[in-house]
Amino acid sequence: MIEKITPVKKIEGEIITPGDKSVSHRAALFNSISLGTSKITNFCVGDDKTAILNCLNGLGAKIEESGNSIIIKGVGLDGLHEPNNVLNAGNSGTTMRLMSGLLSGNDFHSVITGDKSLRSRPMGRITAPLSEMGALIYGRKNNTLAPLTFHGGNLTAIEYKMPVASAQLKSCLMIAGLYAKGKTTIHQPGPSRDHTEKILQSMGAKIAIQGLKLEIQRSDLTSIDVNVPSDTSNSTFWIVAACCHPDASIKLKNVGMNPTRTGMLEVLNSMGARIKISATRLENGEPIADILVESSELIGTDISGEIIPRVIDELPILALAACFAKGTTTIKDSEELRVKESDRIKSTVDSLSKLGANISETKDGMVIKGGAQLIGSEVDSFGDHRIAMTNGIAGLLAKGETTIINSEAADISYPTFWKTLSTLGTPHESP
Ligand code: S3P
Repeated sequence: MIEKITPVKKIEGEIITPGDKSVSHRAALFNSISLGTSKITNFCVGDDKTAILNCLNGLGAKIEESGNSIIIKGVGLDGLHEPNNVLNAGNSGTTMRLMSGLLSGNDFHSVITGDKSLRSRPMGRITAPLSEMGALIYGRKNNTLAPLTFHGGNLTAIEYKMPVASAQLKSCLMIAGLYAKGKTTIHQPGPSRDHTEKILQSMGAKIAIQGLKLEIQRSDLTSIDVNVPSDTSNSTFWIVAACCHPDASIKLKNVGMNPTRTGMLEVLNSMGARIKISATRLENGEPIADILVESSELIGTDISGEIIPRVIDELPILALAACFAKGTTTIKDSEELRVKESDRIKSTVDSLSKLGANISETKDGMVIKGGAQLIGSEVDSFGDHRIAMTNGIAGLLAKGETTIINSEAADISYPTFWKTLSTLGTPHESP
């Protein structure tokens, strides 16, 4: 599909982005193997949602969908069965890595694959520790690429030093740890999103958290209802649109404010963004708030170090914000961007430079010199939802018409993105 976006005179409105993908994935997976019945409301939407639900259903999970809610009858830790077909995680790295922890814990044969992008993403980071715990795993390129074949069960706990700060790796190992004999100890090199820890704690898992060290033991889980907050990462597209537009005011409602996800607010605040947080509250252990954003005079900043895993999904849209900032913005320590749904350093730099930005690629990030006028042009999504949406917001801010090819990539996490974008602005000339 192709989307053509033209700039608007004014941006205003109230937006509720669909349910958070990371929270939804955990809520569905853990409630499938718990004891009891749960209702998950405001469940995420898009192809990644379908991927995780299909994989869980393939293992015999009891999930009923009704609108944006799902009801799950937990089958207990050992209640899943051998899938009679290959599981398909589609484009979803979280699905493949979390499911791999689950498949390793279960004493049956299974195979999981994904789309072309997912089949090229690194899986050695999960297959190595899972094999050390006793799972039999085979994959392409010396067990580092999907499709992955598992024969799980009889796991033994390990003490593991994670080589990368990755919530997907950490969660995969915690899931395997739930099934293993003994105490699994995980040492993280830095903080990453902690939705797995939070939900496991509220479901009664035997888990201990001491700074960056996690310990988990085999435990029965109790089902819990979850009302999923609006997606933090997808809210960032609208936050940046409002900051960079000269006449904008947007209110985002019920946004997930977990501090391991809100690095983007810290970055934008350091750039001088006009952002007001209100109605902060706690739901199922996850903080939620409303966010008001207005046109801002941004200044360049440095984004590096500890904050990177907490802004990893927002770096492409923050790079766009940097194009509108006075001065230079440097993004470092983010080589993980190269192994996301696309090589996001390349795809961001390619897209924004086609639109006239002064942006260059470095080994582990980007350098953006703000202030160059963006001019509409033809850009590609590279099949990556976050690049499609970054380019959509760029089109709203650039002069002239921006054509986004392969724009359907947004369906991965935010199928209503283009519709919301089209209702947000006042056109320059009334029809
Ligand atoms: C996710 C973790 C992040 C993020 C991804 C979702 C999760 O990946 O990029 O979109 O839900 O755990 P890593 O933690 O592996 O960097």
